[in-house]
Amino acid sequence: MRTAVTEMFGIDVPLFAFSHCRDVVLEASKAGGMGILGAAWMSPEELEVSLKWIDERIDGKPYGVDLVFPGTYAPLTDDRDPQAILPETHRKFVDNMLAAADIPDLPDDDAKIFAQEHADKMKMTPQDSERSLDIALRHSSVKFIVSAMGAAPKHVVDKVHAHGLKVGALVGNLDHAMKQKEVGVDVLIAQGTEAGGHTGRVSSMILWPQLVDAMAPIPVLAAGGIGRGRQFAAAMALGAAGAWCGSIWLGTRESDLSPVMKEAMFAAKSEDAVISKALTGKNCRILRSSYTDAWDSQQEIKPLTFPLQSILGGVPLRRAERVRRMDYWTYAVGQVVGDMKQETTVRQIFAEMLGEYVEVMENMNHMLEE
Ligand SMILES: Cc1cc2nc3c(=O)[nH]c(=O)nc-3n(C[C@H](O)[C@H](O)[C@H](O)COP(=O)(O)O)c2cc1C
Repeated sequence: MRTAVTEMFGIDVPLFAFSHCRDVVLEASKAGGMGILGAAWMSPEELEVSLKWIDERIDGKPYGVDLVFPGTYAPLTDDRDPQAILPETHRKFVDNMLAAADIPDLPDDDAKIFAQEHADKMKMTPQDSERSLDIALRHSSVKFIVSAMGAAPKHVVDKVHAHGLKVGALVGNLDHAMKQKEVGVDVLIAQGTEAGGHTGRVSSMILWPQLVDAMAPIPVLAAGGIGRGRQFAAAMALGAAGAWCGSIWLGTRESDLSPVMKEAMFAAKSEDAVISKALTGKNCRILRSSYTDAWDSQQEIKPLTFPLQSILGGVPLRRAERVRRMDYWTYAVGQVVGDMKQETTVRQIFAEMLGEYVEVMENMNHMLEE
């Protein structure tokens, strides 16, 4: 296929695979698309290890790194213990919730180590984001830096450009897109509300053509609700230069979700992918469970701000998963989850998506001929 982004990155198909899992990223780039490593949950040190691992296996093919440059930060710095600033009321709320459901505590040592590691990953200070960016820029197969949330600061965009790389940004409406244009991004990822993760309120069907028209000539990748070839074709029909998928990779062999987590995904319906602040403190589309219901169904204890709510949830969600109480577990996922029914591989998804895409194109052409 040939579009503005296949030309920009020298890839065979305009299919972008967002994942926190390096194996997915590797397979997507090797399959002719482009893997994008979500680095938001990684410390700069972990990012270095993952990028080195990918570089050693990717045969020079391009891939990207997605970083968070949030507009607002919790009052966290490198030398402040994130655990220490979680309010007692909120800790008690989750502890009581799990105790009432007979979900046991983690063994004491495990709990401490896990809580610390989890908090370190989630704290996302500005210093961490900049350190991670510098690491990504030192890896020569990284060709695309994406800002997950809000406009990346102008100096970040300039720095990436000075290294000869392209900058992308996720946007959920026209105002967001205008801000990204002002700082000089090269590619916009228009993410409709059906998407997993932090998401806006405009549906893909409306958002994609809106941004394609308003932002031209900046190429727009379509995200939110794409898991098969017909959806990919719809995105291209609406003017996108390519597709960007996140949820669909969660059910692949390469995904690092545990088997019980995958089973929870395969059992879910599209309606189970709800928007809630329970996981991160921001509106985020996640798998509905008793954990999310408990946060969403009362007013007294409000979720903490981002990323403190993610830090708070580390231990309870681990507790639930450890004893396979997936009714108290949650994870980011989009409405596509209703179509995910069994484990696949990244290669299989690429093959099926492209096969179905070609079939759709042929059928549509056929309609014209008749
Ligand atoms: C588990 C999960 C985590 C996500 N985390 C991030 C993130 O850290 N940064 C980001 O830019 N997008 C993130 N997203 C959103 C994806 O990049 C992508 O836009 C979205 O998944 C597309 O919609 P889909 O879920 O319908 O495929 C996440 C999505 C999922 C499912």
